[in-house]
Amino acid sequence: MRMVDLIIKKRDGHELSDEEIRFWVNGYTKGEIPDYQSSAMQMAIVFRGMSKREVSTLTDAMEHSGEVLDLSMLKGVKVDKHSTGGVGDKTSLVLGPMVAACGATLAKLSGRGLGHTGGTLDKLESIPGVTIAIEGQRFVDQVNRIGCAIVGQTASLVPADKKMYALRDVTGTVESIPLIAASVMSKKLASGADTILLDVTVGEGAFMKNMDDARELANIMVEIGNRLGRDTRAVLSDMSEPLGKAVGNALEVKEAIAALHGEGPEDLMELCYTAGSIMLQQAKVFKTKEEGRKALVECIKNGKAFEKFCLMIEAQGGDLSYILHPEKFELAKHIVDVKAEQDGYVKELEALEIGVSSMKLGGGRETLEDVIDMSAGIMLNKKIGDYVKKGETLCTIHTNKPESEYLPIIEDIKHAYVIVKEKVEARPVIKEIIEK
Ligand code: URA
Repeated sequence: MRMVDLIIKKRDGHELSDEEIRFWVNGYTKGEIPDYQSSAMQMAIVFRGMSKREVSTLTDAMEHSGEVLDLSMLKGVKVDKHSTGGVGDKTSLVLGPMVAACGATLAKLSGRGLGHTGGTLDKLESIPGVTIAIEGQRFVDQVNRIGCAIVGQTASLVPADKKMYALRDVTGTVESIPLIAASVMSKKLASGADTILLDVTVGEGAFMKNMDDARELANIMVEIGNRLGRDTRAVLSDMSEPLGKAVGNALEVKEAIAALHGEGPEDLMELCYTAGSIMLQQAKVFKTKEEGRKALVECIKNGKAFEKFCLMIEAQGGDLSYILHPEKFELAKHIVDVKAEQDGYVKELEALEIGVSSMKLGGGRETLEDVIDMSAGIMLNKKIGDYVKKGETLCTIHTNKPESEYLPIIEDIKHAYVIVKEKVEARPVIKEIIEK
């Protein structure tokens, strides 16, 4: 078999056989097929797409390119959740302890942020002392004792995705439904959980810009998971504006702590309650979502979810005093309000622009080698549907960059806000639920 023939076959719109897909994935993972041929194949897939069978085989080949975890030594039904990425998305930090407090077992492997999207691991590491490198028996003990752990993926898990994703990132081939589906599902399947809840984000700040694409992606992933015996469901959530009010690592951790105290922003809490009630049903803790939702509301009220979060942070080496006294988190040198230049209603708050601006303020990385400034980011004071008066604060930037660097970013942020005279309704965060 020659890789060039497979590229031509896909370029001309034909289906690849299972054997051909495995030849590509295995050859590329082992370094026998070069980057340029793999990227040509990925670009052909961007243009020509893949059949359901091809996506399923690609997922399977990627899943088995490295270690596949066996979580059978963990007690109970193991639930997992994955977001396709967004701005201000601290859901896992809140939802993980919530579902654990209600009796589910969450053994979650998370990723780092890149570009305008944040990563749960970076957020966790903004808490002094926290380690995400927990493996083997320590991981098993933590999950069995507390019911939740959020740790980093080991290098041996789905090596094909590591290479392919890095290549896609620099060759304009990230936005492809079959490639995203295989990337996400290969990691989720290899991580070993019994059930998977996918949060497929939709809007300018997400990979899927419209509902049709988001639905198609969600349906493919749900079908792959269920066919392989994992109860897989999806929530389609809005990512046209950032989730919650905080964007940036330590700022988001503080918002997550507030949420666990019952003081979270409405959209974040709604996503946590909706996703959590599905996860508790998947875990068979409750028969109905209504029962699950009631328990989730209760675990916030009675402090049990916050308690779980504290136990998880402590088990992962974190300094609890920061969680109990969030005012201890170091603040950035410059904290500057961005003011509205006119009266009106916020019609748009472009998540992509806010994510990129937060990254430029120091809160994110352009390449995986960049070092993040944990204190940097943006606190949003006004979101879509809010009324604002001229001179009122739209949002506040937090940065250690000099004025010459942050002033142009403030201008970009002003452009992310579209303010109109007519009344605008807030957008619901949950757009659709897909269950088979
Ligand atoms: N998240 C992933 O893990 N993979 C993709 O391809 C896109 C989002």
